[in-house]
Amino acid sequence: MKLGILISGEGTNLQAIIDQIREEKLRAEIALVISNQETAYGLVRARKAGIATAVVRHQDYSREAFEEAMIQRLEAKGVELVVLAGFMRILTKKFVDHFQGRIMNIHPALLPSFPGTGAIEKAWASGTQVTGVTVHFVDPGVDTGPILLQREVPIREGESLESLTQRIHEVEHELYPEAIRLYTEGKLKKGKK
Ligand code: GRF
Repeated sequence: MKLGILISGEGTNLQAIIDQIREEKLRAEIALVISNQETAYGLVRARKAGIATAVVRHQDYSREAFEEAMIQRLEAKGVELVVLAGFMRILTKKFVDHFQGRIMNIHPALLPSFPGTGAIEKAWASGTQVTGVTVHFVDPGVDTGPILLQREVPIREGESLESLTQRIHEVEHELYPEAIRLYTEGKLKKGKK
């Protein structure tokens, strides 16, 4: 299965996927990594792994043309599943419809709790005892699409935000490759929505 991975920053989730493919735990090929930020460290990770990269700067386009530019590049590489990994732009219906049911996102909270940015901090500050990680299909809303996989992360008594953040990321790096693996094996059922 050919993956197209969209990033904006660090790319630690991208790295986890690269590693699992290299270790042959995940049977997939990353056909293209696109970043809307040319300074995203994830681009360096992709290049080091010999993966094709593209920078599509959202500032250079209208919203519609930005998405069209990404669609063209993804289609040119034969991408079958679009994987959002820290991609910090909201996609419109046009993009979502083009890849209907074939776009995944990972979110660092137990959706529908704490959607949007700053989710780890919001959960930590809320006093909840449990947060976690969600992988979901993307719809045109913000973190609202059908939920595919979730894993809980209990917040420890007196835990620092740094510690919680690190533990959430560790879970992400297991859960995202796992979700992609299940998808490639046809084992993921859409949520009830
Ligand atoms: C992750 O926490 C992910 O849940 C969120 O953005 C972050 C991306 O981190 N959507 P990285 O770029 O994969 O390191």
